[in-house]
Parts: sequence; C-alpha cells; structure tokens
Amino acid sequence: MRSILAALQKSRPSAFAQVVAASGPADLTVADAAALTAALAGRSDTPARIQVGEVRLEVSAAAPAASGPLVGQVAIVSGAASGLGLGVARGLYKAGAAVLFTDVDAAGLQQVEATFNDPARVHTAVVDVTNEQSVADGFDAALKRWGRVDGIACCAGVAPAGPLEDFPLAKWNLSLAINLTGYFLFGREATRIFKAQGHGGAMVLLSSKSGLEPSKNNTPYNATKAGELHLARGWALELGPDGIRVNCIAPGNVFEGSKIWNPTYIAEAAKKKGIKPEEVIPHYINLTALKRDIKPDDIANAAVFLLSDAARCVTGQVLVVDSGQVWTR
Ligand SMILES: NC(=O)c1ccc[n+]([C@@H]2O[C@H](COP(=O)([O-])OP(=O)(O)OC[C@H]3O[C@@H](n4cnc5c(N)ncnc54)[C@H](O)[C@@H]3O)[C@@H](O)[C@H]2O)c1
Repeated sequence: MRSILAALQKSRPSAFAQVVAASGPADLTVADAAALTAALAGRSDTPARIQVGEVRLEVSAAAPAASGPLVGQVAIVSGAASGLGLGVARGLYKAGAAVLFTDVDAAGLQQVEATFNDPARVHTAVVDVTNEQSVADGFDAALKRWGRVDGIACCAGVAPAGPLEDFPLAKWNLSLAINLTGYFLFGREATRIFKAQGHGGAMVLLSSKSGLEPSKNNTPYNATKAGELHLARGWALELGPDGIRVNCIAPGNVFEGSKIWNPTYIAEAAKKKGIKPEEVIPHYINLTALKRDIKPDDIANAAVFLLSDAARCVTGQVLVVDSGQVWTR
C-alpha cells in the first residue's frame, strides 16, 4: 500500500487519497506502483478512482475544505489525547490540516472524535510510541485515510521527578522509552514516508525549557528533553537535502490540561521549592519575565508556524515559548 500511495504522491503531490473497499468501476486500473507511475505520467488529470491490484484509491486532487496556513497538509501528533499534544493537534486542525490524533489513551481519543466531529479532517489511532509496530500501524492509518503525510508533532512525554539517590530504574527506563525512543520511532517512520513521497516534510519535536536549563530533581526529564534537541539538530542536518525540516519547541511550564502537572507532581514541586501546593502555579508564572501563564494554544501557534511554509527556511532550531524564563539556547 505504501509504495502505491508514494507513486501517487510523486506524480500528484497535492492529491489526497483514501484506501477503500473496491466497489463500482475504476477510472484507472493498473497492476502495481510502477504501472501506476507510468499510467499517471501519460495523463494530465487526476483519476478519481484508481484500482491497483487489490487496493482501491478514492482520489481527490485537493485537500478537504478548510482555511489556514496548513491546508493541504496531513499531520500526525503523538500524545494528542491530553495537554500540549491535544493543544498542538487542535492548533494544526484549526490551521487547516487534516490531523491524526494518536495516544495510548483510547478513552481520551474517543473524546477527541466526539469533540471535533469532523471525520474529513480528524481521525484517531491508538499508538504506543515505544512500540515499533504500533507506530507503523498509526502512520498507515493516516495513509489509508488521506493517502499522504506532510508533518508530525512528537508530544507524547512523561516527567517522573524525584531526588537522584532514590530514583527508581524503572522510571528512568520509562522516560527514555517514551521521551527518546518514542521520538526516534516517530521521526524514523515519518522519514520513510517523506522520502518515499518525494516532496519533503516537517517535524516538530516538543522538548522543554528543561532541555536547555535543567530543573532540580528531574534527572530523566532533563536528560531526555536535552536529547530531543540534538535528535532534531542531527535529523535537520541529515534530512535537509530531502527537503525535510526538523525543529524543536521548548515550552516553559504549561499547566492548563496537563496530566504531568498532576497533584503528586505539584506536591513534589512544592516540596522542592519549600512552598504550599496551591502556591506552585503562581510561583512558576512569577518566575517569567512576562508574568504570563503559558497556554497550550501558545505552543500550538509555534507548531503551526514551524510546520507551515512560512518556516520553509527554518530547520534545526529551538523555538522557546516560556514567557521569558530561560536565557540559554
Ligand atoms: N506541561 C508542561 O509544563 C510542559 C512543559 C514543557 C514541555 N512539555 C512537554 O509536552 C509534552 C506533553 O506534556 P503534557 O504536560 O501535555 O503531559 P500530559 O501527560 O497531559 O500528556 C502526555 C500524553 O502522552 C500520552 N502518552 C504517554 N505515554 C505514551 C506512549 N507510550 N505512547 C503514546 N502516548 C503516550 C499520555 O497518554 C498523554 O495523553 C511532553 O513531551 C512534555 O515533555 C510539557
């Protein structure tokens, strides 16, 4: 299926396609991806129904109706059932993209489907970012639904905190698996598809200000978030010749909707700062130059920019969205 869709993308870079069960006559019937390439090279229109062996494609020359800088793009977001992932996915959708929301939280994804209620541009898939097959299946779900992938945002992350001397190995390993291996598997899968399609692509890796300046008692979070910055830089260097851009966003503390900022985490932060739990959020907001509460929409706006053509010459960068808190880059 991937080779057929890639063949379609190579000759019709703006086409969308849905893989459906065959019914009725096709406008074009070919045996395989090579035959599809040859057939499309000989005609100027975009056939609406293409039968390739057992695969039937319902093709549309243009994107589902929408407006905004991301119209024509399909984006896949990890960790999109909660917090910043949900906020980023919502922002990409509002900017016109068709968005596959992925997460391990099946109930959260059902809620997403019900909230958006727009099957033309919102689709969900249960994906565990630490599992190779699960990630591949998630990308296939986007390909089957829209026939293409143009951008990804890696947002699934965890932040178990605590002092080093007592820190459990299992929590360290979990952090590496989700925050680093998860980003690696998502980036690798996107790269395979972007290269096969032949028209570039863009990735946004959600890191953190803790990737630039460590926060206290946060060993695995600091290490993995710093690692993500260098994943992005290395990939930007490696994939630039294929027109693939890779950038990071480093948010400051974002409380709204975040399950990382759960009562246990807030209690841990209160202990670390020597303040009461109810003082934690105002305390962190007060640490910023702007004294401004950062919202998921602020992070989404950065993601929209980085995935859009407005950032066509921006790659390997870290966009810090922290109301002015860390000053290293
Ligand atoms: N909230 C903040 O203050 C803040 C600041 C900087 C960076 N970030 C980054 O933003 C991202 C999201 O954080 P959040 O605060 O919104 O947290 P959150 O816990 O609200 O959301 C994380 C999501 O990731 C999902 N997830 C966990 N393990 C997964 C797995 N194996 N596969 C797929 N999905 C999985 C969870 O189900 C959840 O929906 C993280 O990468 C985090 O490092 C958050």
